[in-house]
Amino acid sequence: MAHGAWCMALLTYPLPRAPCPMHLTKCLSAKGIMKKVNIGLIGLGTVGRGVYDAITCNGDLIARRTGVSVAIRGVCDEDKKALKGIDLQGGAVKVCTADELIKDRHIDIIVELIGGVDSAKEIILSALRKKKHVVTANKALLSGHWKEIFGAASENGVFVNFEASVGGAIPVIRTLRESFVADRIDTIYGILNGTTNFILSMMAMTGCSFDEALKIAQEKGIAEADPGLDISGKDSAHKLAILALLGFGMDVFCNDVYTEGITHIGPQDMRNAARLGYSIKLLAIAKDTPDGVQLRVHPTLIMASHLLSGVRGADNAIFVKGDLMGESLLFGKGAGRKPTASSIAGDIVEIARHVAFFGNNNPVPYNLNYASGEKSVSPMEELFISYYLRFSVIDKPGVLAGISSILAKYNISIASVSQEERKAGETVPVVILNHSAKEGDMRKAIAEIDELEYVTDKTVVIRMEEF
Ligand code: HSE
Repeated sequence: MAHGAWCMALLTYPLPRAPCPMHLTKCLSAKGIMKKVNIGLIGLGTVGRGVYDAITCNGDLIARRTGVSVAIRGVCDEDKKALKGIDLQGGAVKVCTADELIKDRHIDIIVELIGGVDSAKEIILSALRKKKHVVTANKALLSGHWKEIFGAASENGVFVNFEASVGGAIPVIRTLRESFVADRIDTIYGILNGTTNFILSMMAMTGCSFDEALKIAQEKGIAEADPGLDISGKDSAHKLAILALLGFGMDVFCNDVYTEGITHIGPQDMRNAARLGYSIKLLAIAKDTPDGVQLRVHPTLIMASHLLSGVRGADNAIFVKGDLMGESLLFGKGAGRKPTASSIAGDIVEIARHVAFFGNNNPVPYNLNYASGEKSVSPMEELFISYYLRFSVIDKPGVLAGISSILAKYNISIASVSQEERKAGETVPVVILNHSAKEGDMRKAIAEIDELEYVTDKTVVIRMEEF
């Protein structure tokens, strides 16, 4: 049947109302109406298993909506226990090595879900060279090696889809790539890490310490046993680098993002922020300025009334400002088996539809050369911003005068001072909010202040963002 004719047949074919996966798919395949696209699934961990379940359980729904039947032709995982419960459908699904899946000429799409950098990169590059499309959620890999990966995809005329690399189930990649493609993006603010958002929310709600909140997050399965990447802010930096590439065409990698974690935030900072009308969030910020694009991940005081303050627990959100669309907030689940599988399945189906309806000839609808190189990173030292400063000082006369004279020396103007406790001769916290100051000056001032004999602990510095 000619291409146009079977498309029409598909549109007019009376589809059954009730889900009947095998019946529908087989029946339409037999009539030559339903197109089948094969995938190879590499990695059957939490997310991989979620993708397997999504494709097998919702395959009929996908087929009815798109006219394409996505078939898992092979799976692979080094841990044989991961194969438990996988239905091999009488041999229709094969257990193979990654290499065998990549070399299988019946497979159109390789789904890489092993995580990590080195092996994943090898697998993806080798799949691209074999002209297989790739779907991945691997932000650590993409944020460090996107040039090689997108370059190989371009050379070989295949897709690399990576929606789940940022914001789990939130369609932010597709939104930046498609919906806002005509916009000049001005700012992206993201709560891109569920673990840290859960910890900070817990601290704010219960008054518990960072360590206690982390323990609860681990008990609930939200934080990993080794939460290093999350609490250091690096996971958010990986994601921000990907958004900066898409939103600003920046030739950047995760190392170009200024990154601070949340381990120094205390329950008293959460209380102080609330008393002053703010919340504290780990924000990933990409902001265009005349001096370049600021790329930074750090704990941030934001007005309690801002929409992002209402993003609590393990949820993620991305707030985007553009010259045409104005402001937009995308919100949803940033992690987890099913939400991540939802994005990955969407990526698979997008490619599968292309393969089914347009074939494999030069099927690259997006410019994979995202980086225009027009915009550079603005140096962090040049940032002008307001700060929340919590000093730990001995409660005695002259202390405030000493601190404020150093701030004045560096041209840092004080907006408010508060000392809630009175313990003569002992350590008390003093909180100062200041008007906008230069980051480079603030660093020098704090380094000097922390050397004063009556300053007993490292000063906590939290930037304040105005929207
Ligand atoms: N560990 C991440 C988080 C999810 O806590 O949001 C995967 O990126």
